[in-house]
Amino acid sequence: MKIVRVDHLGIAVKDLAKAEAVYCGLLGFRKTHAETLPEMKLNVSAVEAGGVTLELLEPRDGETTISRFLASRGEGFHHISLEVDDIRSATRELRDRGLRPVWDEPRIGAGGKMVNFLRPADTSGVLIELSQTSVETCS
Ligand code: CO
Repeated sequence: MKIVRVDHLGIAVKDLAKAEAVYCGLLGFRKTHAETLPEMKLNVSAVEAGGVTLELLEPRDGETTISRFLASRGEGFHHISLEVDDIRSATRELRDRGLRPVWDEPRIGAGGKMVNFLRPADTSGVLIELSQTSVETCS
């Protein structure tokens, strides 16, 4: 597997508007993307500065994963997303090396990217998101 780059850092927030006001209004980040993920029950904003993208994650009603994180740890750093060249082969390779990717097959996450996760227990306490930009075919 090949890591292409750090795609973004995920930050769990309780109030997306408040977080955007801090990152964009005070720190000078630029909002590059915003969407609601109905299946994952998340509101997501991507903000960029200095070549670094932060993914701000706000849970909607009924969401469990980020909500539980916020309840136990509070707001803050949640995951690092590493773009890989081929997420399916990366998942297989890492499983062969003893890691335990969360899913057998990647799922569609923010920005329409294919994503999978490695468990913090296997990676020195850091939730690692593997991501691959879906290949768009031109016609
Ligand atoms: Co992410």
